[in-house]
Amino acid sequence: MSEQGTKTGGTKLADRVALITGGTRGIGAAISRSLASQGANLALGYGSDHGRADTFIAEMRETYPDATFTAHPGNVGKPADARTTVADVIEQHGKLDILVNNAGITRDRTVLKMEDEEWDAVIEVNLSGTFYMAQAALKHMVERGSGRIVNVSSIIGEMGNIGQANYAASKSGLFGLTKTLAREAVFHLDRAGKLNDGGAGLTVNTVTPGYVNTEMVEAVPEKVLDKIKGRIPMARLANPDEIARVVHFLCADKSSYITGQIWGVNGGMDM
Ligand SMILES: NC(=O)c1ccc[n+]([C@@H]2O[C@H](COP(=O)([O-])OP(=O)(O)OC[C@H]3O[C@@H](n4cnc5c(N)ncnc54)[C@H](OP(=O)(O)O)[C@@H]3O)[C@@H](O)[C@H]2O)c1
Repeated sequence: MSEQGTKTGGTKLADRVALITGGTRGIGAAISRSLASQGANLALGYGSDHGRADTFIAEMRETYPDATFTAHPGNVGKPADARTTVADVIEQHGKLDILVNNAGITRDRTVLKMEDEEWDAVIEVNLSGTFYMAQAALKHMVERGSGRIVNVSSIIGEMGNIGQANYAASKSGLFGLTKTLAREAVFHLDRAGKLNDGGAGLTVNTVTPGYVNTEMVEAVPEKVLDKIKGRIPMARLANPDEIARVVHFLCADKSSYITGQIWGVNGGMDM
């Protein structure tokens, strides 16, 4: 068996190909590390920060010399970019087993002041981007009879937040999208006679982080952050790897009976 992934984790995802959007920094980078630590080969999506992507990929190649890493810049919110990315990954790696829709942006402003462009930009990347990527990946996964799609939502999608109507709407939109994708995945597998064939299955789930220590949160003023921590039973923000471990758990073959679910990782904030 290949040594891939055994250094820090295990071999749960040995020889799997995983595409992580926004996979080169923040929560996405933690997800990338976590999937690679279980033996996956990675296709790393990102927007436009080539320098950050190059540095991250060099680090990953050094840590996991047996794994393959490819870079895929592009805007997930543009259907052509999303489709090209999925096609490139399949061409370069020969298949796509796992898609993690993690890329996301904020453009915060109260509803009364929000510009049309700010509304549109966030819906386009966070919600439409997830749809475009999932649509392209699902076709391939249905043909192969197996796959994993994990979407990254946010506790804001459950609770709403002042100044984040666009972000909250995009993130709660992922709940309905996830459940529909999960139902359609089962429908297609059943039609192809591949449902419950003893394989890994084709599942779609969402992970819903609370507040996580990343650059996205660095923009939040200290005073506001203190207030937020006061509302979290565990009284601290999450570390990115605390989100990532749920993603690799969902991606394992043995998680094949978990689909259409919303996985909160928020220190108890929504209790
Ligand atoms: N941080 C939190 O507290 C928190 C909480 C709940 C949920 N989330 C969600 O978790 C996910 C990751 O958050 P994060 O804090 O790690 O974000 P981040 O540090 O801001 O990183 C965002 C990543 O997404 C990429 N990206 C942005 N727009 C893109 C686009 N249009 N097309 C392709 N890639 C794009 C970025 O690429 P570049 O590097 O090229 O810019 C970057 O790799 C997001 O969906 C976010 O909504 C975050």
